[in-house]
Amino acid sequence: MNIPSGLKRFLKKVLIRRKELETFNLYGDSFTVVDISYRLGVRPTIRAIEHHGGKVFSSLIYLDDKYGHPYLRPVQAMIKAWGGKHEYRNALVLGCAGCSLPRFIDEEYPSCAITGVEYAEKMIEIAKKYFLDGIDERFHLIHADAFEYVPTYQADPFDLIIVDLFQGKGLVKSIFTDDFLSHLKGICSEKALVVFNLSTSVTQEEISQYKTPLKKNFSSAALMQMWNSRFLALFPGKNSDDEVAAFKQKTAKILRL
Ligand SMILES: C[S@@+](CC[C@H](N)C(=O)[O-])C[C@H]1O[C@@H](n2cnc3c(N)ncnc32)[C@H](O)[C@@H]1O
Repeated sequence: MNIPSGLKRFLKKVLIRRKELETFNLYGDSFTVVDISYRLGVRPTIRAIEHHGGKVFSSLIYLDDKYGHPYLRPVQAMIKAWGGKHEYRNALVLGCAGCSLPRFIDEEYPSCAITGVEYAEKMIEIAKKYFLDGIDERFHLIHADAFEYVPTYQADPFDLIIVDLFQGKGLVKSIFTDDFLSHLKGICSEKALVVFNLSTSVTQEEISQYKTPLKKNFSSAALMQMWNSRFLALFPGKNSDDEVAAFKQKTAKILRL
């Protein structure tokens, strides 16, 4: 059924309650931390960092974790699919904003150390003020540029790396350079999983253009699509084709694709 846009706006106003907590500017865009709740109580309250006129979310959490985690479910599914057979002891999230994915990893893998790297000082302040309540002290949030952090990292290799680097709506495309990819591979453990959130920013044709540096640095890859968002899983180790196929199948199953 096609609902006229005027009626949609009216229903939204009547059914959804918004409480704006703070507005700030970053990357030439205006961002708002907002609590969104449903007057009929059908869904739990979401805390979000929204921008681009409320059309894009940088981070999303349920204020009550018992409802799970609403941010980037396809990435969560990929983490779970690989985590079923491989242990995560050390995880890295590049681009943290409100730290939704670190919260998910914290809850799912209680013995995994988690490092978050965030470039914008304001986002770190926002995360600490509104999003990190109750997160375990295994999580460390570092103020750094991912492109400086990764090449200079020298401690324990990571079993899981999530690359979620956006400046406003735009994906930071230097994640596809040979230099970054080779350093990224250099900080992975043998059986690590690396996931890139590409959102809607990269077309299939564009991904083909990055094939050479991706293939040079990672032994296998799996591209997942949900609606028009894309997610790339990269495997540094010599995983058999069967293992990667099982990963894809399991991810699709978790997402009920
Ligand atoms: C989509 S948000 C990340 C959301 C987050 N992963 C979560 O789980 O809620 C993208 C973040 O990447 C950060 N970012 C962009 N470029 C960066 C860089 N070079 N190094 C570190 N963080 C960066 C932005 O400041 C922004 O906060």
